[in-house]
Amino acid sequence: MPDAIGYELLGDIAILESRNPPVNALGIDVRKGLVDGIDRAARDGAKAILIYGAGRTYFAGADIREFGMKPMEPGLPEVCDHIEASPLLVVSALHGTALGGGLEVAMSSHYRIAVPSARVGLPEVGLGILPGAGGTQRLPRLTGIEAAIGMVTTGRQVGAAEALDLGILDRVAEGEPRQIGLTYTQELLDSGAQRRPVCDMPAPAAIDFQAALGAVQGKARGQLSPVNAFLAVQAAAELPFRDGLARERELFMELMASDQRHGLIHAFFSERAVGKLPELKGVEPRELSAIGVIGGGTMGAGIATAALLSGLNVTMLEMTPAAAEAARGRIEGNLNGALKRGKISQAQFEALTTQALSISTEYDALKDVDLVIEAVFEDMDVKKTVFKRLDAVCKPGAVLATNTSYLDVNEIAAATSRPQDVIGLHFFSPAHVMKLLEVVVADKTAPDVVATGFALGKKMGKISVRAGVCDGFIGNRILSTYRTCADHMILDGASPYQIDKALVDFGFAMGPFAVADLAGLDIGWAVRKRLAATRDKRERVPSFPDTLCEQGNFGQKTGKGYYDYAAGLRAGVPNPDVPTMVDANRAELGITPRDFTDKEIVRRYMAAMVNEAARVVGEGIARRPLDVDMTLLFGYGFPRYRGGPLKWADLTGLEGLLNDIKTYASEDEYFWQPAPLLQQLVAQGRSFDDLNKEA
Ligand code: 3HC
Ligand code: NAI
Repeated sequence: MPDAIGYELLGDIAILESRNPPVNALGIDVRKGLVDGIDRAARDGAKAILIYGAGRTYFAGADIREFGMKPMEPGLPEVCDHIEASPLLVVSALHGTALGGGLEVAMSSHYRIAVPSARVGLPEVGLGILPGAGGTQRLPRLTGIEAAIGMVTTGRQVGAAEALDLGILDRVAEGEPRQIGLTYTQELLDSGAQRRPVCDMPAPAAIDFQAALGAVQGKARGQLSPVNAFLAVQAAAELPFRDGLARERELFMELMASDQRHGLIHAFFSERAVGKLPELKGVEPRELSAIGVIGGGTMGAGIATAALLSGLNVTMLEMTPAAAEAARGRIEGNLNGALKRGKISQAQFEALTTQALSISTEYDALKDVDLVIEAVFEDMDVKKTVFKRLDAVCKPGAVLATNTSYLDVNEIAAATSRPQDVIGLHFFSPAHVMKLLEVVVADKTAPDVVATGFALGKKMGKISVRAGVCDGFIGNRILSTYRTCADHMILDGASPYQIDKALVDFGFAMGPFAVADLAGLDIGWAVRKRLAATRDKRERVPSFPDTLCEQGNFGQKTGKGYYDYAAGLRAGVPNPDVPTMVDANRAELGITPRDFTDKEIVRRYMAAMVNEAARVVGEGIARRPLDVDMTLLFGYGFPRYRGGPLKWADLTGLEGLLNDIKTYASEDEYFWQPAPLLQQLVAQGRSFDDLNKEA
């Protein structure tokens, strides 16, 4: 791209306009253009330089696609130094999002002005790295050490007004970046303002770094980038500017080489790719303004809340006036939470609960809605009855969706005369909070119905993943396999508490047994009962989870499950009855328990997860490995910095995993059958990511 940076000389001011849509990422052409522009301005006899971005934003950061590629000169640190060292007065005018390398370019300029809507930040830690072009040395010189630690270690973005207060900006003004930048630059020239390089400012005052580091480590929960970012900012207080830059580089390169960087960047691009399906190119979604929700229990109320908050009108259908009242109470409770957190105003709360929401016990109320989501009891007969009623009452072209967790969407669709309009929209609990939506495409679902499912997800701010029909779709199917693996490890000698701890240490938000307590143990119990009749004889089926349920322990909702919540604590303490139940189960099966290391627990658990995920991709239930990765990240608390199970598998080595699976198979041939896709990839020396690239 020859003119990624436009150049124009207007009086005494050389104007450098970045033209690299969509976000003016600082790729090689932009970097070269900036250096050339700075030099040319000096040659042309300009007195000042104005830098701004064309289109929707100032530079939104380094070009992430270049990470891992052979470095191309000039690098961003050199560009920033070059800008700062210019003998001319350099001004940056910011709009949109000045992020990462973008803010670093701005801080290398001598003055900074922004429009009121601009936002600035150093989000690099979220990509597994740290600001690598002087940001960790320049920001604390502008804001002081504490504010800089806050921004750099969390990636927090700040609005223009706060940035002005913090000293990051010199002025905020309404207008276009070019116009406000020119006016400000001229004013600076007229007033005889001098160059003001941040590198010449005094080093920030030190704080109690030991205590501050402890706090950062605690929040980082195993993620390396916030810790290295902290150490780089600390260097700003302790070392001269140039030495601080060298320390920043060293800490930056360490992160660049880490698996966590690979995982987080995989997550960045995958969360954008997941909703882009080749089959939906050019397919227009159907009209979507009013929706119906059937069943106002946990899920229905959450879905209705999410829909209301995204601007949709909602008609809720319940069975009885009393159930309708209870549903209203749940939705209002959810919206009250949004009100308390400042997400909506009192006036919006009133409008949402009175005008946008109506609750009925009559199917007729659904005759005009564009889409209906059924969230009634998980029972095929009940669902079929509901869909027959919907078929009779809904307008032609209305999308009929089910929120079922496990049931066959094809069978539900067959209960209607319009299976092409039927789809699964599988939300996660609590539906107004959790980001994941599985869009379950049945055999006869029409493409524009799929597009409508994705459009609804986008409107609600969800990460939508396409899934095919099978027991549990993508997420719950993989979950039941790794849960089974965890149950087997318990039979063989591990405890639920050791397993939970090992997996939290691996980076999961919660361990599988704490999660089960939260979701309700009765759900898994019902699934086990449903599958009992068709279960393969070779399957190892533990009985201790059933014993727990038979004694009325369904987890948090009953106060006891794997943990005891008697003290009203959310975390609970180990339930002392569980080891007795497990011992009885082991005795019944004649198992002598053995010790497990945390490492072995993680290895087996992850091997089970990857193996089932490979099957899910191999069977086409998930189209691409990245679809599985995003499902686990956004619905199952998988650590983002590991990228997802299949990214983790690539980084860990597929051959080693396959070998381990084959070794485990010597104990349990039925459970540890290697997935054909995993075997194929190993045989071909390819990775899951290769499949993402081909898709
Ligand atoms: N590099 C390369 N591509 C980028 C990019 C970047 N820094 N930022 C965004 N893009 C791409 C996206 O992948 C997307 O591509 P697609 O259309 O092909 O999917 C396109 O630009 C538009 O992005 P979004 O869909 O995310 O657009 P939004 O308007 O929703 O968000 C944004 C805009 C807030 C700028 C958001 O894209 C964002 O947060 N980008 C990343 C910002 C960032 O992390 N910057 C720091 C980079 S690291 C760095 O600077 C290192 C330095 O310290 C040395
Ligand atoms: P729930 O028991 O909390 O709520 C079900 C609601 O449906 C009740 O309020 C009931 O009165 C109503 N209902 C039942 N039959 C009805 C009918 N014929 N017409 C109108 N209303 C009717 O159940 P929950 O947990 O909300 O689950 C609902 C569905 O969502 C199930 O299919 C479940 O598998 C699925 N799901 C549940 C998740 C969870 O974590 N609870 C997660 C994702 C999906």
